[in-house]
Amino acid sequence: MGTSDDFYLKRRSVLVRKMSNKDIPKADLDKILAAGIRVPDHGALNPWKIKVIVGEKLKTLDEEIILNEYKRQNPEADQSQLDIESKRLQRAGAVLAVISSPVEHPKIPDWEMRLSSGAVCMNLLSCAQSMGYAAQWLTEWYAYNEKMLQYLGGDLNKDRIAGFIYLGHKTEEPNERRRPDPQKVISYL
Ligand SMILES: Cc1cc2nc3c(=O)[nH]c(=O)nc-3n(C[C@H](O)[C@H](O)[C@H](O)COP(=O)(O)O)c2cc1C
Repeated sequence: MGTSDDFYLKRRSVLVRKMSNKDIPKADLDKILAAGIRVPDHGALNPWKIKVIVGEKLKTLDEEIILNEYKRQNPEADQSQLDIESKRLQRAGAVLAVISSPVEHPKIPDWEMRLSSGAVCMNLLSCAQSMGYAAQWLTEWYAYNEKMLQYLGGDLNKDRIAGFIYLGHKTEEPNERRRPDPQKVISYL
């Protein structure tokens, strides 16, 4: 792993349509996952879960959940759209679904537990990128789908999908995207 001094100044996501979906070696996946759960977490409540989706499971979820739910919600959809929906997760070598799963706590607010899930997503993303992988954080429409949340083991009453971290291999170096003007978002008191 090991990051160069300016890794965080150059870090960039690789769009899913530009990644190849060969498998991610298990040893690398294990490192990324270990980094992913090493995050600030007020009260050490671990208010999140990660579901690792690899191999045949990518296809199963694409066909049984994403495609079926899309068809149910869009009965008029044409074949080209159905083709897209039937292969969403299969664009990646591995997809890490991060589920925000807050617990009851007398002092620590739900908001902080939600933020910690974002930290999990960001650590997974940064770690994968530091290892040279193509990675992107996506929600698309199916992060908000109840069947998907249920399939991933989430509790419909309180859990939410914080994101799907798509992991693949770079086919080319990404272009820089527009970044915020520091003067507009950072100021000293
Ligand atoms: C919570 C969350 C959800 C996102 N969902 C999508 C999405 O559904 N589709 C999309 O094109 N980009 C989505 N993005 C943005 C991508 O990750 C985008 O590629 C990202 O802004 C690249 O930033 P980076 O180069 O700084 O890593 C999402 C970002 C976040 C934080």
